[in-house]
Amino acid sequence: MQLQQNISLQPYNTFGIDMPAEYFTEVTDETFLPLTTEEDLPAEKHVLGGGSNILLTKPVKGLTIHNKIKGIFKINEDEHHVWIKVGSGEIWHEFVIYAIANGWAGVENLALIPGTVGAAPIQNIGAYGVEVKEVIDTISAWHWEAKQFFPYHSNECAFGYRDSIFKHQLKDKVFITSVTFKLNKTPKFNTSYGAIEQELAKMKVTELSIKAIADAVIAIRTSKLPDPKKIGNAGSFFKNPTIAKQQYEHLKDFHPQIPSYPVDNDTVKVPAGWLIEQCGWKGFRAGETGVHDKQALVLVNYGHADGNAVWNLSENIVKTVKDKFGITLEREVQVW
Ligand code: EPU
Repeated sequence: MQLQQNISLQPYNTFGIDMPAEYFTEVTDETFLPLTTEEDLPAEKHVLGGGSNILLTKPVKGLTIHNKIKGIFKINEDEHHVWIKVGSGEIWHEFVIYAIANGWAGVENLALIPGTVGAAPIQNIGAYGVEVKEVIDTISAWHWEAKQFFPYHSNECAFGYRDSIFKHQLKDKVFITSVTFKLNKTPKFNTSYGAIEQELAKMKVTELSIKAIADAVIAIRTSKLPDPKKIGNAGSFFKNPTIAKQQYEHLKDFHPQIPSYPVDNDTVKVPAGWLIEQCGWKGFRAGETGVHDKQALVLVNYGHADGNAVWNLSENIVKTVKDKFGITLEREVQVW
């Protein structure tokens, strides 16, 4: 196995932070994974997909493995569904486009999410009323300690809001090699998210299709979220916090405009972007880092930001939101 030493990870993270990896290699085929357990390789290992949900704050020790495992295969079908096995290094959005071109429904609301297919289940990516857990059948992963491949069925993955077993018990323990999706031959359109209906009307769509939904999602995302190729960012930096209904009612007395989404009988979710904007952060800039001017949930790198400067900005945001609303924001990005 060919290792590079002390290389900059700047091209490999969408935040565009310049931090070195002690050792670096690329894996293009899952049959290489058994080789990564060789005795003379560093024990500490990190898997890097599209690098779209990480903030680098210090040099990355051990071996960073860039996942480039490709391939999209139809492995099964019945009257209503297709089972598609996708290499974890495939670019998520390219897979979405491929699925739409083949008429396979279920991922159209998740168009244009940055990152790779292998990273999608880790944080259970979601947007516009859909979460990826709804279409995942099985995940195949190499277990570093057990030195073998395991299948993880969707119901074993403890999927939650931007959460899964891969962020907890299996954190740094496995390398996801492929994800098998169960997609629908007949679409069940989900336009429950208000912005989609508005966008479809704006686009003058009369006949709903998975392509039309994806086009609407792409238009909304492009208008609100910065393109990482132009301005470094990792999408939503924080999760939308879930709070008790009682706390929400109390906050509403002071902030009648506060938006919310129901979670269950006792709790609601509040958009972190709104809380952050209310604290005056939207469009804020300090040197090379700042808060996006169209979506306050997104922190940005204007070019040469230090990961620690981004981290410090996020600390200040957490503090002001806590002081004003009594809510502690949790980061969505993985901090390395
Ligand atoms: N809002 C503000 N100010 C802002 C941003 C948002 O007031 O600066 C308000 C909006 O007006 C709206 C509400 O907050 O009432 C929700 O905003 P938006 O529809 O933009 O969605 P979000 O809750 O901020 C979440 C996801 C996004 C996903 C969108 C659409 C999280 C952490 N983020 O954002 O996911 O694309 O919904 O479904 O759940 C990501 O995870 O990286 C990501 C971009």
